[in-house]
Amino acid sequence: MAMSDTVDIESFLSAQDAKDQLRFITCGSVDDGKSTLLGRLLYDSKTVFEDQLSATEGESKKYGTQGDEVDLALLVDGLQAEREQGITIDVAYRYFETDKRKFIAADTPGHEQYTRNMATGASTADLAVILIDARKGVLTQTRRHSYIVSLLGIRHVILAVNKMDLVKYDSSRFETIVEDYLAFARQLKLDDVHAIPLSALTGENVFAAGSEMGWYSGPSLMTLLEEIEVHDDRSSVEAAKSFRLPVQWVNRPSQDFRGFSGTVSSGSVSVGGQILASLSGKASRVKRIVGPAGDLEQAVAGQAVTVLLEDEIDISRGDLLADPEAPPEVVDQFAAHVIWMDNEAMLPERTYVARFVCGQAVARVTDLVHQIDVNTLDHLAAKTLGLNEVGYCKIAVDQAVAFDAYSDNRQTGAFILVDKFTNATVAAGMVDFALRRASNIEWHDMKIDKAARSAINAQKPRVLWFTGLSGSGKSTVADRLEQKLHAMGRRTYLLDGDNVRHGLNKDLGFTDQDRVENIRRVAEVAKLMVDAGLIVLASFISPFRSERQMARALMEEGEFIEVFVDTPIEICEQRDPKGLYKKARAGELKNFTGIDSDYEIPENAELVLKSGEIAPEVLADQIIAYLERHQ
Ligand code: ADX
Repeated sequence: MAMSDTVDIESFLSAQDAKDQLRFITCGSVDDGKSTLLGRLLYDSKTVFEDQLSATEGESKKYGTQGDEVDLALLVDGLQAEREQGITIDVAYRYFETDKRKFIAADTPGHEQYTRNMATGASTADLAVILIDARKGVLTQTRRHSYIVSLLGIRHVILAVNKMDLVKYDSSRFETIVEDYLAFARQLKLDDVHAIPLSALTGENVFAAGSEMGWYSGPSLMTLLEEIEVHDDRSSVEAAKSFRLPVQWVNRPSQDFRGFSGTVSSGSVSVGGQILASLSGKASRVKRIVGPAGDLEQAVAGQAVTVLLEDEIDISRGDLLADPEAPPEVVDQFAAHVIWMDNEAMLPERTYVARFVCGQAVARVTDLVHQIDVNTLDHLAAKTLGLNEVGYCKIAVDQAVAFDAYSDNRQTGAFILVDKFTNATVAAGMVDFALRRASNIEWHDMKIDKAARSAINAQKPRVLWFTGLSGSGKSTVADRLEQKLHAMGRRTYLLDGDNVRHGLNKDLGFTDQDRVENIRRVAEVAKLMVDAGLIVLASFISPFRSERQMARALMEEGEFIEVFVDTPIEICEQRDPKGLYKKARAGELKNFTGIDSDYEIPENAELVLKSGEIAPEVLADQIIAYLERHQ
């Protein structure tokens, strides 16, 4: 609609306020005519200009974030945070409106990183417009897009069968495509699919019906976008869901005011109503609800509020206020779909940080149950997940977190996985269900503890973690050191890569995922030995800093001493004690560290030993001196 002088500004503005908003994602490639179609929608409607656009952004900031806290209520926000760190994601949001509705279209490119980009664009969308080239019909790509759309919980699909002009507006062509598509959509449980034959080029059925497809009696694309019932349906669905309010901060300006602030992610809460603090399991009653404009009787999904309770119960940031009649899950293991978004593959047992809308925890994929072929929906056996791949995983976190199944709640059921070192988002996840195994196992505190065992050994137990290339001299120095410690009356044990791989780890090879598992098991064994009061010498290539850090994190402060045996690869190769470098160079040995498998140099090792220059005897003495300095 164009604004003319004769329009009454007041009624125009109030009509604007009353207008609802539809967020949708467009899926397809340039070849399908996506740009032409979007261009036409933008051109023929009233697009929103730059300043209004930034106002919209400001608004969503206001509701989406508190202070400098990133609100992870929506996956997209997590990805936004990543964008601020300088990693670009190719999703363009286009704003436009008609008299009836405002639209936010997430436009994602149809190539390479589409899965990642689609997940970003789709996570807040109500509807997906999936483009098909009428000449080509349902393609692999159409199926991929539809799978991700369904995985992200979008329930409304418009199948835009484009380029009808190039198939002579043939109705039977259209019908065949729709039948094909519906067969696939049914498998995905996408049951609200509207198909429209159109031509972005000629404009036929984009804004209005043209003269060429009299056989089609349905709405044009624009009419459908304006009229489709998703919003009412969504807000009523959200409002009808159980109450959830992720606590983003505890607001305590004075002694007599202690409120819990956040945005209601689903359901509603009223003054006097019962609520549950999910993490502690304590219940209370709502005393006051304060909104941006003052006190409220009730708060509903989407509102940012501060809630005050009748009782003083222990609630901190990261907790989830919930309806006690329908509590969320509070556990430390769950099954989830994961869309992998990083160039570096997902490795089971590697530790990442999982961020939920409320709270975060250190997380590991304990089991990659299967990978999903997004074209055929087949379940494939897999050991890792690469960029853009989707897997079904069991995940364990190091402390209980509160969440719902994604199918029940798109906000409290979503999470992202973040790299511990770079803070980059490596995956988007959707919880399927909670796993309860952990709650049946308890930790027993025994009467004789580590302190008692170390006292009788008269020593401070710790781990000397030797890392370095094959042939760097780790085992030689460790062996020499153990002899010296033994002679001094110390109780020790040497865990050595080659030896452990004969027994405990004989099922493991040298792929990245096997090395991760190798180090995980060894680190757990080392921890038990430290608990037994021993001085443990662990000698493993341990090429990845992530797993060295994981081993360190298992021990107490001061117990883990990383010893980097820093020998240039040329020297290791000259030494070649087992002839392995020779084999690797000849291509007879795959994944050999330093040749075709990475070694990540330690950055914070307590000790760096120059074994290429200094004799093992002297290096062993250096370590003893270090141990004596750090009693
Ligand atoms: S780690 O990478 O998983 O930490 P670990 O220290 O247990 O390795 O085992 C390394 C030893 O296995 C080496 O010293 C070498 O003798 C042997 N080995 C056999 N194949 C390989 C390989 N592809 N890469 C590295 N070491 C190998």
